Amino acid sequence: MTQTAVDNPSPPFAPAEAKVAAAAKVCFQRNADSVASHRCKVAEHRWVNDRYKYLKLTANADLAGTTKPGQFYQLKCPGTNDLSPFLLRPMSVYGVGPEAGTIEFLYNVTGVGTHALSHLEVGGHMDIVGPLGNTFVLEPGFQRILVVARGVGLATMAPLLQHAAKAGIKITAIMSARAPKDLMRDEFLRGADQQVQADVHCVYDSDGSSSVEAMELLVRRLLDAEHHDVAYTCGSHRVLMLLQRMLKDYPRTRGEVAMEQRMACGMGVCLSCVRLFDKDGDKQFLRVCREGPVFPISDVVGEVEFG
Ligand SMILES: Cc1cc2nc3c(=O)[nH]c(=O)nc-3n(C[C@H](O)[C@H](O)[C@H](O)COP(=O)(O)OP(=O)(O)OC[C@H]3O[C@@H](n4cnc5c(N)ncnc54)[C@H](O)[C@@H]3O)c2cc1C
Ligand code: FES
Repeated sequence: MTQTAVDNPSPPFAPAEAKVAAAAKVCFQRNADSVASHRCKVAEHRWVNDRYKYLKLTANADLAGTTKPGQFYQLKCPGTNDLSPFLLRPMSVYGVGPEAGTIEFLYNVTGVGTHALSHLEVGGHMDIVGPLGNTFVLEPGFQRILVVARGVGLATMAPLLQHAAKAGIKITAIMSARAPKDLMRDEFLRGADQQVQADVHCVYDSDGSSSVEAMELLVRRLLDAEHHDVAYTCGSHRVLMLLQRMLKDYPRTRGEVAMEQRMACGMGVCLSCVRLFDKDGDKQFLRVCREGPVFPISDVVGEVEFG
């Protein structure tokens, strides 16, 4: 079952309705009606390591009720004396609640926008637009899921772990990082591991355990040992391609990926985030911001050759 743009068949990029599988009962649905611009107050803003910052905002709106795992917001990063970010920046929702108006982000300080954002002080204000995009599919009947996260994928997938743990779904998690100091294990798990006694595996570039070969052995061992209903991933193209290849050997395990793609409008208008997908031989150009960012792993086309 795919959770495609069931409420948003906007040609020519949305798949024909006939191709949209009848929606089975899912926990999450697209909620385009909830998209709005929110003026937010900064409640907390701090470094979690030398590259990532945690940002907690509050708004006078039910963000917790309308925002689902896998969705993202467009952040209007406030300018500074030196930095004037033009476009809004897409950021996955890292957490919501417990108050209705509270939303959290975890972001890598990399370029103009995120550097400008990093200067925002507690008590200051900023605008965000969302929630945008579709969500991961998490069905109530799931017994165990596999989550493979790296880099910003960690922020995107953290809410999925929270929902799975609350639903009593068992979790196998693989966290990948350059080195142990970059891992952000607590930020990713946020107590979900204790709630359902998650099986957590950490792999690193520094000792070679995150190599494709080592990951393949690990993932095969985990999938052979126990059935997993879905394998979710975000944050690494290498891992995505590995899972796409491997999941062909585990047809009962579905795969979903949250794609990270350069975006401008984030709302399906400018077409800057279009990517090629292949649905059972049917090639389609889809907007990552609108038909995604979550796609079946099997649909992703890794290398595109034009001409
Ligand atoms: C759906 C989605 C969710 C994301 N969630 C997170 C998250 O939770 N945490 C996090 O740290 N990062 C996340 N990213 C990546 C984040 O959007 C970029 O790191 C950020 O836009 C970089 O902005 P910048 O101005 O600092 O960098 P610059 O390089 O100065 O940006 C220049 C332009 O390119 C765009 N851009 C640059 N890198 C990316 C990128 N990787 N993805 C999309 N647009 C990019 C910027 O938005 C901007 O318009 C996400 C991206 C997408 C598409
Ligand atoms: S970013 Fe404009 S259509 Fe996706």
